[in-house]
Amino acid sequence: MRIVTQSRYGGPDVLEIRDVPRPVPKENEILVRVEAFSVTLADCAFRKADPFITRFFNGLLRPKNLVLGDDIGGVVEAVGSAVTRFAVGDAIFGSVGSSLGGAADYVCLAEDAAVVRRPDGLDAGQGAGLSYGYLTAMPFMRDEGQVKPGDHVLINGAAGSVGAVALQLARHFGAEVTAVCSARHADLMRALGADHVIDRNEADFTTARDAYDVIFDAVGKSSFGRCRAALKPGGIYLTTVPSLAIIWHMLTKRAPGRRGRLATTGLRPVSAKRADLAVLAELVEAGAVRAVTDRRFPLTEVVEAHRYVETERKAGDVVVEMAW
Ligand SMILES: NC(=O)c1ccc[n+]([C@@H]2O[C@H](COP(=O)([O-])OP(=O)(O)OC[C@H]3O[C@@H](n4cnc5c(N)ncnc54)[C@H](OP(=O)(O)O)[C@@H]3O)[C@@H](O)[C@H]2O)c1
Repeated sequence: MRIVTQSRYGGPDVLEIRDVPRPVPKENEILVRVEAFSVTLADCAFRKADPFITRFFNGLLRPKNLVLGDDIGGVVEAVGSAVTRFAVGDAIFGSVGSSLGGAADYVCLAEDAAVVRRPDGLDAGQGAGLSYGYLTAMPFMRDEGQVKPGDHVLINGAAGSVGAVALQLARHFGAEVTAVCSARHADLMRALGADHVIDRNEADFTTARDAYDVIFDAVGKSSFGRCRAALKPGGIYLTTVPSLAIIWHMLTKRAPGRRGRLATTGLRPVSAKRADLAVLAELVEAGAVRAVTDRRFPLTEVVEAHRYVETERKAGDVVVEMAW
């Protein structure tokens, strides 16, 4: 079977497509025929080991995972003798987890991995893209931001994979939502439910005063210091990207009344991710969350897919499809 691999850290050109034997599921595993996997800024960060901290998960000197790829959509091809949750032919989507392995024709997963059945109408590529954006956005909106009806939520980077789902979840939780993006994505933001759109090239959202209950920087381009005054007293600033300032703030709990938080959503327990994906399937079926797929690349263009993601200009998700 074909896999995407890398033997050293670096730019998109370090990616290689290789052939390896197809894995065989153990008694408590399922064998998934991967139809699509997502390519995200997180994948790029791990590929180039930037930030350095990724090396603590993926190998200090060189990448330790043979096969790349976290979020996937596919079909169960075979099941181990003790498997009860899935049957051959089930369409699934979800996250392979930190050991990776989704960028391949097949991957073996424990039956209690963070994958669930795919709802009707969600294709494999959409599932792979949504899995990443949602598993990041949901903990921020529900657990960290505790978004509730009547809250005013601002999302910076609202057109990205994480932001587009965060926007829809904030609306689902009953909030008034302001999306920050460039003008070319304004219509998409309104279509996803944004009440207000700020063109980031025309206006600086941080000049607002006492305006937002939650500011979620989905792309980590702002700072708590710059956003603090735009929060209402008691408001919270959330970011996906670690900085020394936010970590220092969280450790020292400065600035009572307005808080800043970073969350590491990728490190949540598999059981929590699986439960949340089951909720996502319901939200998709109910029409509360939909996938936004920017581009689909064939496997042979996986390098181009990484290059495109690194432009940081995509709207929603980029996926690689195995059959083209
Ligand atoms: N904390 C965690 O556990 C965790 C987990 C997963 C991912 N992450 C991180 O979370 C981030 C998620 O990003 P993503 O995947 O959603 O990104 P993405 O999809 O690549 O974001 C692309 C979008 O960013 C917008 N953008 C580009 N530059 C911007 C700027 N200077 N200010 C505001 N918006 C800008 C662009 O829209 P416009 O041009 O329209 O603005 C574009 O649509 C990544 O950095 C990833 O590493 C963290």
